[in-house]
Parts: sequence; C-alpha cells; structure tokens
Amino acid sequence: MITPQTIEQIKNRIDIIDVVGEYVKLKKRGANYLGLCPFHNEKTPSFTVSPAKEIYKCFGCGKSGNTITFLMEHDKLSYTEALRWLASRYGIEIEETEVSPEQKIQQQTSDSLYIINNFAQNFFNDKLFNSDEGKLIALSYLKERGFREDIIKKFQLGYNPSSRDELAASLIQHQFNKELLPKTGLVVVRNETELVDNYRNRIIFPIHNATGKIIGFGARVIGKADKAPKYINTPENEIYSKSKVLYGIYFSRVAIDKFNECLLVEGYTDVVSLYQAGIENVVASGGTSLTADQLRIIKKYTNNLTIIYDGDTAGVKAALRGLDMALEEGLNVRLVLIPDKEDPDSYVLKLGAEKFKQFVATNKKDFILFQLEIMLQEAGNDVTQKSEIVNHIAETLSKIDKTEDFTKLQDYIKQCASLLKIDEGGLTNLVNKFKRDKISKEEKKLPFEEANYFHQQNKSTQQNEDDANWILLQQDEQQERNVLRVLLEYGIKNWDEQLTMADYIFSELEQFTFDNQQLDSLFNEYKTQYQQGLQPDTKSFLYHPNTDIRNLVVSITVFQHELSLNWDKKIEGLNIANRDTSHQDVLMSVNFFKLKKIKKMFEENQRDMEHATSDELIKLIEIHKHLKEIEKELTRQLGAVIIK
Ligand code: GTP
Ligand code: MN
Repeated sequence: MITPQTIEQIKNRIDIIDVVGEYVKLKKRGANYLGLCPFHNEKTPSFTVSPAKEIYKCFGCGKSGNTITFLMEHDKLSYTEALRWLASRYGIEIEETEVSPEQKIQQQTSDSLYIINNFAQNFFNDKLFNSDEGKLIALSYLKERGFREDIIKKFQLGYNPSSRDELAASLIQHQFNKELLPKTGLVVVRNETELVDNYRNRIIFPIHNATGKIIGFGARVIGKADKAPKYINTPENEIYSKSKVLYGIYFSRVAIDKFNECLLVEGYTDVVSLYQAGIENVVASGGTSLTADQLRIIKKYTNNLTIIYDGDTAGVKAALRGLDMALEEGLNVRLVLIPDKEDPDSYVLKLGAEKFKQFVATNKKDFILFQLEIMLQEAGNDVTQKSEIVNHIAETLSKIDKTEDFTKLQDYIKQCASLLKIDEGGLTNLVNKFKRDKISKEEKKLPFEEANYFHQQNKSTQQNEDDANWILLQQDEQQERNVLRVLLEYGIKNWDEQLTMADYIFSELEQFTFDNQQLDSLFNEYKTQYQQGLQPDTKSFLYHPNTDIRNLVVSITVFQHELSLNWDKKIEGLNIANRDTSHQDVLMSVNFFKLKKIKKMFEENQRDMEHATSDELIKLIEIHKHLKEIEKELTRQLGAVIIK
C-alpha cells in the first residue's frame, strides 16, 4: 500500500492540464480548457477540463473524473498503477505502508498457490511425455484428435495418471503445505486426512492469466464422458475466479492486439485447435455466458469481439445474454455460427485453416442485426410483438452511439429499418427519443433547480412558500446531495468566530438522517475525517480509494460548478456580486434539507392521525402543530435569505 503521505505529495504535484494534455489537444476557453473527447468519437469538442477544480467532464458522452480516473480509464490502469505512473512522472519516491496481517496471509496464500500450480504443471507435463501410461493413453489421444506436439507443449498440456495419489504423494514429499493443497483443487481429502488426486486419468489444460501465471486447470476425461463430468475445473480460490477467466489470453493477446479483433469460442480444445491452425487471436469463456469482467479484459486489447459458437441453441442464448453489456462496454460484437454438430475445433480440422478463415469472414453477422432477425422470426405476424421489437431495437441502438461514429449508427438504422420494413426517419426519431430519455435520466440526478429560487426578486411570503413547495416536490436526494455539496465545498471555512461551516451543519442536522445510503456514508466519512482533525474537502475526496465515493464526489462537484455559474449571474442582478455567498448557500441547503424532512414527517403524522384513537390524537395534534411551526419558521428564514 502506498502511504497517505506519498499520495498527498502526488496530489500536490498533479497538474491535470499537463497530464490530460498529453492525450488530448486542449485549447483554453475562459477558466477552462476544451478538447476532443478521448472517450468517444466526436468532431466538435465537448470535453472540458477545469484546472481549478482538477476535474474533466465530457458533455457529449458524460464521462467525468479527476486526473487519476482519467489515467485509469484511458490507460486501463488500476488506482495504484495510476498513482505510480504519476509518481514516476513527477519524480516522487513512493513509500509503502506495512500490509495488514490479513493482507499478508492472503498474499502468502496466493504466492503458495502459484508455486503449487507450477509444480503440478511440471508434474503433469512430465507424465504426459515421459511416462508409459501418459504416452500410451493421453498423448496418443491428443495426437489422434489432431493436436501437434509443438502446440501441446506451447499450451503446456499434461496428464494426471490413474493411480490414486501419485501427484498428492509427490506434493507431500516436496513439503507443500497440506492444509493449503485442497484449495488448489488438485487433490481432495478422503477419510478426513488422506489426500488423493482429483484429476485422475484426465488430460490437463493449465489456465494462465494474462501475464502467464498458472491460476488453475481444466481436466478432461479421456475419450467419452459417460458417468463422470467431462471437465473438472479449479474451485474458486485466492487466485482463480471463474468469472474472470479467459482461457488462452496469455497466448493470444499479442495477436488480438495486432489484428484488433478477439475471437471468442466456448471450449479449451477450440482455442488450442484454432491456434494450431494459425488463428491465434482466440480465447474461450468456458461455456457460460460472458461476464462483465471478461468483457473488460477483452476491451483492454480491442473493441472488436467476434463470437464463434456452435449452432446449438444453448450456446447462442448464452452469447445473446452478454450483448447489451457488451454494447455498453463499447464493443462491436459479431457472431459466427458453426454448422450443426460441429464446434470450432472439429470444424477447423474438417475444413482446414484457410477455408475456416473464409467461413468466418463470410458468415460474420453483426450481433444487433442477428438479434433482430431472431426476434422477427419468433414474432411472425404478431403486430404487438413487432412494435415491441421496434422499441427494443431502438433502445439497443441508442446505447451504441457514444462509442461508434455517426455514420455507423446511420448504417444500423438503415439496415434495421429495412429488416423491420419501417420508415428510416421514424426509427431515427425513436432512437433519438431513447437517447434523450437516457440523458435526461442522467441529468435528473444532477440538476439544481433550487438555483432558480434565488433568481426571483421581491416576492411575497406566499410566493416564497409556493416556490419552496415546488422545490420540495423534487426527490429527497436533491436536498441530501446539496448538503454534501456545501459540506465538501465550504466545510472547513468559518461559519462565525467559533464554528466552522461543518460544525454548523453537523449541529443543525444532528437529528436528521440521510435516506440515500451512499450519501449517508459520504456524510459520515466526512464527519469522521473532520473529527479526526483532518481537513476534508472536495479535492481530498477526489482521491478517495473507493471508486464509488470518488464518482459520487465528482458528480456533486461538477454539479456545483454548473450551479455557481448561474448563481453568479443572477446574484449580479441583486447587486451583491462581490459578496461571499457561501453563508447563504449553506443556510439555504441546510434549511431546504430540513424542510423536506419536516414535510415528510408532517405527511406521516397526518396519515397516523387518520387511524388514531382519541388519546393518541391529542399527541399527534401537538406534533402536527409543532411541525407546522418549524415549517413556517424554515420557510420564513428561507424567504428572508432570498429577499435580503
Ligand atoms: P472436446 O469435447 O474435447 O472438444 O471439448 P470442448 O472444449 O469442445 O467441450 P464442450 O464443447 O463440450 O464444452 C465447451 C466448454 O464448456 C469446455 O471447454 C469447458 O470449458 C466447458 N465444459 C464442458 N463440459 C463441462 C463439464 O462437464 N464441467 C465443466 N465444469 N465444464 C464443462
Ligand atoms: Mn469440442
């Protein structure tokens, strides 16, 4: 772990213009810089960087964040990798903290698992090539299936002999930790203490991660699988997580990068066969539907994913399930179906490399169009179903535009409209509608219409009350967000001679809670840091190790920025342009927050009154009056702030 001091040092040195400027040509525009967004295709710049706030936001695709998230997103770095990148750029020496005992144990376990896997791989490999049993049963089987020796060696295939515990005995003899061994899945415990081999009489496919370390194994029965499962795989452990496995990625990553395309098949043997045929940009998902983690790994190398599956329905359905996720990840997905009873492995053996490549090239179907064809087939002449399909496809299309260029979307619309036999313009409108809905849904999380409240002058109390009521019709979250905005923005400033703004906010809101979990935890985290004597603010939170918190703070901050623009403009009309408005801002935010909560209590109270006994009613009426008074007072205060 990098020490907080080092992170602090890095933070102090960061120049967002300098870092982002390395990837994006930026032009100064007022206080901000403007450029073409590196996260989506655009011709007119909508990517804005604010050096003062140390954030960027693209008004085209909505991506926003700070220098660190920029590097993470753009260069596919992890949080610590981004910090290290910045440290080396600015010549800052990195200090690391001691790891916690739990982390240490986890680290040691991982290290041991890698070592055990390595040992086992050598053992299996040796058995395959050098034992009579291996040569006779396993190697001959592999060769019969058409695998060349150089490929078997490259993929480090092996054989686990049929004896009860040959591997287990060897592991114990080499003094590997007995407790740890079952975790690898290589051995299982029998009769409480005995360790026996788990993959007896099976061909072994070692599974490598992208850096070439063996994280687990797939073990296949030799010949037909009658009773036993065809494959046994490593159980989930510190280094093996099924949802992140892409079999073959270590061998194929260079080719994927080079050809800017990743072929995805189902099985281990499909990968090995295609690779042997010279089609090296291939990985396997292991027969289940694609996970977001797997898509993310692919996206590090290419945006073009071609799924090559058997024509049987199970596989295709599994593939279809990944589609929307893949689109949102910005991938171009294409699909090739292999004819009945074949899989890529058998088919490439049958056709030979050249014909297979040709087959893939000519049968590659766009995934969206493929999906549409399937849906249309299923719908037949049903008009209702067809109109549902139109909606569905429009929504799907509305998701792709941010990463594809415009003509591509136009092409899609053209082709889909023609398949659907509907008007192109109509489909375009529908797609645009979904796009707008999506944007306004995203913006609803942000807007700050309270700002309008300050624009009005000389209003009566009644008008103020009406306005306040209108504002309060909005989601609670708005009020809650706003409190966090002022807390982050002004918390450490003075409220008066004794209190800081944070002190004031904490004491005023002591009796209230946040409904939104995320906002609640952000509020509490701020409070904890503040009470520890730290000086939390927007910037320090933008470097929080938790991604969710960072994103939340970014959205609150960006939003503040937009608000304050309006604010300055309107306040000018009131002739108080040079006044520090932070006080008012805090007061308004706290009072609106309270008012909203009071309103809710008020409504609840009223509901209780409907079912109350006469005894209870007296109490409830008291509460009712009390709440009404607080409400009036809050509204009065709010009015006073505005008219002042
Ligand atoms: P071959 O039959 O040797 O050509 O293997 P294959 O890789 O073509 O197998 P298949 O098409 O039957 O299955 C595709 C993939 O699904 C396999 O590579 C495995 O990853 C997985 N799979 C198949 N059968 C099993 C099983 O019984 N258990 C588990 N865990 N996975 C399996
Ligand atoms: Mn097969």
